[in-house]
Amino acid sequence: MDDPTGLRIRERHRIIDRHNNSCVADRRTHPDDWRLMADDCILETKGLVKEFRGFVAVNGVDLKVRRGHIHALIGPNGAGKTTCFNLLTKFLEPTRGSIHFNGVDFTRDTPERIARRGIVRSFQISAVFPHLTVLENVRIALQRNLGTSFHFWKSDRSLDQLNGRAMELLTSVGLEAHAGMVTVEMPYGRKRALEIATTLALDPELMLLDEPTQGMGHEDVHRVMELIKQVSANRTILMVEHNMKVVAGISDTLTVLARGSVLAEGPYAEVAANPLVIEAYMGTEVAELASPAGH
Ligand SMILES: Nc1ncnc2c1ncn2[C@@H]1O[C@H](COP(=O)(O)OP(=O)(O)OP(=O)(O)O)[C@@H](O)[C@H]1O
Ligand SMILES: [Mg+2]
Repeated sequence: MDDPTGLRIRERHRIIDRHNNSCVADRRTHPDDWRLMADDCILETKGLVKEFRGFVAVNGVDLKVRRGHIHALIGPNGAGKTTCFNLLTKFLEPTRGSIHFNGVDFTRDTPERIARRGIVRSFQISAVFPHLTVLENVRIALQRNLGTSFHFWKSDRSLDQLNGRAMELLTSVGLEAHAGMVTVEMPYGRKRALEIATTLALDPELMLLDEPTQGMGHEDVHRVMELIKQVSANRTILMVEHNMKVVAGISDTLTVLARGSVLAEGPYAEVAANPLVIEAYMGTEVAELASPAGH
């Protein structure tokens, strides 16, 4: 329905309490303008801490992810990246601090509620069934989104109604020719593309990707990189990624974690030139950091 006053904002934004968050736009902002606001942040953590029996894995992290950005979370092994992701999706309870999505504090939400808010982590909810076809896997993800995932007794005809949308999603990740293939028979890189398609089926506003190119050969890395760029068109992506070519190639902003704390934040060129970052990577990936294109 049209909104002649321009005052209505999308359902997900409706409950935002602007007194509750510093990076929230004014309620009167039209939704389209809202998305374009330069300082509009979709996700924010304030003083996030996670301790494991006295060991501080995440130590006072203030993270701000801007709407529409591809934001990379990087750092040496053991820096706390996966722990951060686990806190964001509530796989783990934070010891202290708060997490805000579209200005709403969801620190105490359940993982299910977080997914319903529009935060979906790829390779987590989107488990792929190896012995089903590629199309069937996407169809199941769509059913899950419709809340009918356990209605397997429904007729084939009603399931077939989802085929059109499932094929659209497969086309968007370049898998349309593989729709009838049994998933287990697909090469690794294409399985990852399928996982992204099943995540997209849930239509996330914020997509979390933990090492999307891990274990891939050069060609697949390139394909997944292009894919991430493509699917980021109408959403925000936060990804943990070790491959600096990917980070340099597609991310708008980087946050560098080291020993649980934020070491640096900014665009790639700025962060890669930061002496603290270079020192943190010393003896590991410093060569890659300095020369992401492999020159
Ligand atoms: N459940 C846990 N219990 C105890 N310590 C943990 C637990 N999970 C993570 N840690 C520790 O917290 C630190 C951060 O781990 P985390 O997995 O978040 O690092 P990471 O940045 O994802 O590393 P990598 O690049 O190797 O994936 C590590 O020292 C790890 O051993
Ligand atoms: Mg990790």
